[in-house]
Amino acid sequence: MTFVRGFLLSYGPANVKKVFWNKEFSSGKWNFIDDTSSDCIYPHLEKYARGGDILDLGCGPGNTANELSVDAYRNYIGVDISESALAKGQARTEKTGRAKKNSFVCSDFLGYMPTLDFDVILFRESLYHVPYGQVLEVLGKYSKHLKSTGVFIVRLYLGDHGTGETKIRVKRKIDLIKRKFEIVEARQYDTSGSPTVLVFRPQQQG
Ligand SMILES: C[S@@+](CC[C@H](N)C(=O)[O-])C[C@H]1O[C@@H](n2cnc3c(N)ncnc32)[C@H](O)[C@@H]1O
Repeated sequence: MTFVRGFLLSYGPANVKKVFWNKEFSSGKWNFIDDTSSDCIYPHLEKYARGGDILDLGCGPGNTANELSVDAYRNYIGVDISESALAKGQARTEKTGRAKKNSFVCSDFLGYMPTLDFDVILFRESLYHVPYGQVLEVLGKYSKHLKSTGVFIVRLYLGDHGTGETKIRVKRKIDLIKRKFEIVEARQYDTSGSPTVLVFRPQQQG
């Protein structure tokens, strides 16, 4: 079941992925991520957003949009395939009074086309859902929407939650990124679940 779920959430058609994620968010399965305000991602975002613009791909229920220091950015766009997750993100945004800064788009990030350029393009716990064979194509597309000093930031769990064993498919993606992009920072945290954070940008030509 875990394999089938993982396969469909990466390779399934957008409407199937949407149904899955909506069901998971409306059933409360993801309520445990409602408060992640002490997450290791925030100092990285504050450093690289430089008070500018953030694109959050697979933004979920609006954690980054509402937990990141309000002065750390100017504009934030969160993209997610789940309307249920986005409804939460929007409601939190009203509560925190950030409606002028935060906006949300319901879309599959594999097909989404940004209309602006960004200081940070974030995949926070969402790169799992980009199939390995599409990682370079997807990052290549989004690279065109990074400002000249812009970076990608990826947060992932490399180790399995239960066994702690390295997840081979996640490692392959990280290794691919390390080979094909200029790594700005690579951090392995020893906090709960041992998250990995990668900051990278396209390699300079020539
Ligand atoms: C584990 S949650 C992470 C949420 C949030 N980034 C966080 O770290 O709190 C993964 C999110 O990615 C979204 N997602 C998965 N596949 C997607 C896709 N193909 N396009 C857009 N969003 C997607 C899911 O709906 C879900 O909200």
